[in-house]
Amino acid sequence: MEPFNKTSFEALAEKFLGSGFPRHLAGALSMPKLPPDARDVIRRVLRLMKRSGYPLADFNPVLIRWLASTIPGILPSAWGGNIPPITVPGRHRKLDGYIAGQDFPASSGQRTFVDIGCGFPPVTTADTAYRLPEWQIYGVDRSFADYVLYDTNGHYACFNGKGEFLYFQPSTGAGGKALYSAPGRTKERFRQLFAALFPLLRNADLLSSETVERDGNRLIHNHITDFGTANLKFIESDIMDLEPIPATAVRCMNVLMYFTRDIQNEMLGRIGQHLENGGLLIAGTNSFGIQARYAVYKKDDDNLVPGEFAFSLDNLGHLAIMPWFTIHDNDPETALLAELSRTIRSFPPFWAPFSRHLDQLLEYHGFCRRGADGFLYFPEEMMLPDVFLEKNALLWREMQEKGYGEGAVDTLGKAGYYAWINPAGDIAIRPPDGTFVWPG
Ligand SMILES: C[S@@+](CC[C@H](N)C(=O)[O-])C[C@H]1O[C@@H](n2cnc3c(N)ncnc32)[C@H](O)[C@@H]1O
Repeated sequence: MEPFNKTSFEALAEKFLGSGFPRHLAGALSMPKLPPDARDVIRRVLRLMKRSGYPLADFNPVLIRWLASTIPGILPSAWGGNIPPITVPGRHRKLDGYIAGQDFPASSGQRTFVDIGCGFPPVTTADTAYRLPEWQIYGVDRSFADYVLYDTNGHYACFNGKGEFLYFQPSTGAGGKALYSAPGRTKERFRQLFAALFPLLRNADLLSSETVERDGNRLIHNHITDFGTANLKFIESDIMDLEPIPATAVRCMNVLMYFTRDIQNEMLGRIGQHLENGGLLIAGTNSFGIQARYAVYKKDDDNLVPGEFAFSLDNLGHLAIMPWFTIHDNDPETALLAELSRTIRSFPPFWAPFSRHLDQLLEYHGFCRRGADGFLYFPEEMMLPDVFLEKNALLWREMQEKGYGEGAVDTLGKAGYYAWINPAGDIAIRPPDGTFVWPG
């Protein structure tokens, strides 16, 4: 068999994971076409896959699509160096359930929840305000765009007060993939729509929101004001400058990973100052509400104690990319997840039935089929993202119902971890000493 070109993605994958890259995927990802930070992500993905014991034979087109197009589209370099405000409704539903189920000290009176780096439009903070109606909720972000433009397909773009383009986000329906594969064209299309709709606004100086529409495209000025309710307020501030808010619970999801470990620690220190004793901080990463990993810290005697590290069962799936996605080296969460993943994968009484069952469900739901050669084969036509997410949710609900979450907990227990299923239904462990260093 011909060796792969030395500079190719396939050769890199084989360098980290051993020989046997699926030949039918050769050429699907071109390293030279990617920006340098996306190439770095790929190197870290492969390194972490190796630590996790992910077999090269499972490499598949879903991972390739993420690495070649989705990930380059969500890195700051794609947005002029700014951290994109990516968020999506329902993303933190399980974490809202986690908080709702806690017994916080009664002494504090009004319970307060702060969503740090809430993203924009702040749909997950709105979800939380709806789920916790008795709480006061604050959504904090360093910037809320002045204008949002929704096109007829539900894709949207954000613009600043000068009308300069900032960011676009595809909907999970049809056509989203094309937006990322030709970002220049997408930006230009949104700029033209903005130029056509902006003159229809009657008073650009208004502090409340105003919406104008033409041909099904909608431009909204001051959209942030549409989200405030009796129990939900927004604060435009950097974490480091935030005025004190005595918080019962803080969520900081999909924010810290954009920073180096030193800066993360400074940010954690600052967040810890807002928490009341007995309060909780949940900080970590997930995708569209899936493939979650996070640490849960408790404020105890003025210290922030990392008492739990948790991850969702789907991180063990063949089609998952998030378990290995990092933006900086030495990310403590992914390193620990890789360690736990390796422990679980190398215990055959759990892993053999788990992965057999997963293969059966992947085939049943029409994702892919395991060939006689051991590789995963996909239908010619890839599923639309919303169909993928719906079927993926069904698949993992079934895996959960079959008791694989508890099986993973048992496996980790046998390996010496103190493990349990947490109130979000995720696999939790007591983090080994020194994994998450509290900076205070
Ligand atoms: C990827 S979005 C995550 C949104 C939301 N938390 C979620 O999980 O869906 C990251 C957000 O963090 C905000 N952010 C980044 N650094 C920040 C900082 N130092 N202070 C406040 N917000 C910050 C960005 O503006 C962006 O809106």
